[in-house]
Amino acid sequence: MDVIHTIEALQARLRTAGPVAFVPTMGNLHAGHLALVRSAREHGACVVVSIFVNPLQFGPTEDFQTYPRTLDADCAQLKQAGVDVVFAPSVAEMYPTPQQVEIIPPPIASELCGAFRPGHFQGVTTVVAKLFNIVQPAVAVFGKKDYQQLFVIRAMVRELNFPLRVIGAETLRAEDGLALSSRNGYLSAQDRQAAPRLYRALCNIADQLKSGGRDYVDLEGTARRELESNGWRVDYVSVRDPNTLLPPIEGLNQYVVLCAAWLSATRLIDNIEVSIDRAGSV
Ligand code: PAF
Repeated sequence: MDVIHTIEALQARLRTAGPVAFVPTMGNLHAGHLALVRSAREHGACVVVSIFVNPLQFGPTEDFQTYPRTLDADCAQLKQAGVDVVFAPSVAEMYPTPQQVEIIPPPIASELCGAFRPGHFQGVTTVVAKLFNIVQPAVAVFGKKDYQQLFVIRAMVRELNFPLRVIGAETLRAEDGLALSSRNGYLSAQDRQAAPRLYRALCNIADQLKSGGRDYVDLEGTARRELESNGWRVDYVSVRDPNTLLPPIEGLNQYVVLCAAWLSATRLIDNIEVSIDRAGSV
């Protein structure tokens, strides 16, 4: 496995590598990332993983400075997972001059997480567009845990005609249901015990939808109150149409329920996809 830090060296390495399957990450890897790598291995001759903590997608009060940077441990895991190339550029390599050209994401990027993290998705689309142009993958794999991110990137790829296929990989969960995330490492032992409540709140809404509940505002409100009464600070709980990420219209048989909430100083996000059969049950 080659660990490469410059764009020039990466492009020289990839010139004869065949079709690339690409997994962009910010490092501090866990089993969820390794599942993305496994998916990439099924789709490309050469698997490239980028590790880059992208300053553009962090707000001024967010955790850019403290985001865990664990390159050596990450590379050990990626080597074991059979990755061909790790691209780990510096900030100066990615942004040699202040980035003045950015990709404006679709309007949905201002809702849900975007309403609480202004500019976040613009930072994501900009860095992902740059990475796509640098790596030129045939396939790129993103986790469904960042559902809105995946949605926004799919829109960018479609509308800007990036010549690649985006694959969404299922969320990996701990045994107690907590979605794997690098930010879980911020949780105290007590908060880690409390954290699966977020997924349980989503599962409760999914169960209600499957048994015919359609008062989305009530379902969202009940989940919010349940979390808040257990010490969470809720940014949003929202039932949406997975095809548009907009609030659902009548007669849908597919939903996605998304949420973001804080436990102490840690913001967790999660989501669940729900399919209803015509008879109204799963
Ligand atoms: O999901 C992430 O880790 C990041 O948002 C991404 C896609 C690597 C862009 O920095």
